Amino acid sequence: MEALIESGGETCRRERKRTVRRFGTGILFGSFLVLGWSALDPAPLPAQEVERSVLDGVFTEEQANRGESTFRTFCSSCHSNSEFASPGFRERTSGRRVGGFFEYIRFNMPEDSPASLSAGAYANVVAYILYLNGFPPGDEELPPRASELNDIVFSTLEDEP
Ligand code: HEC
Repeated sequence: MEALIESGGETCRRERKRTVRRFGTGILFGSFLVLGWSALDPAPLPAQEVERSVLDGVFTEEQANRGESTFRTFCSSCHSNSEFASPGFRERTSGRRVGGFFEYIRFNMPEDSPASLSAGAYANVVAYILYLNGFPPGDEELPPRASELNDIVFSTLEDEP
């Protein structure tokens, strides 16, 4: 587990930072934050071009477990895991590519120390978030590369409307 983690965790309280940030770092960054991670995501793929979705067992349970411990150490001071696991989250992400989400987290989070974890640790956190949402684990790990993760799209669960 140590090897996955490249920096020490600092606990911090989550502040309502949107406004702080907007004034603190200027208009460009402010508007980026408002658009959020989906702005980094390429347009959703037409259905017939989709090769794999998060319903196809694209991470392992073991990877999700590692992601959980990374989440607890580096994310839970500001986020509860339920923020990233709900019908609303699945709806919002559905059809988008996993690589865009991975890149957003990787280059923006933890908010007080962006890009401070290894690519593998970010992939593990994404696996954990998929697991939390009820997507099935499989035999292969999510790769820690956006180019490959962009071949996988988010989905709602099969029994969701
Ligand atoms: C120091 C506090 C802090 C830490 C630690 C932190 N975040 Fe964030 N995170 C934020 C803030 C502030 C936002 C901006 C959006 C908001 O205010 O909800 C955000 C936004 C996000 C979003 C986008 C939410 C959305 O609805 O679009 C994701 C995903 C996310 N964080 C994941 C993570 C992950 C994964 C980690 C751990 C690797 C992490 N964050 C660590 C403060 C933090």
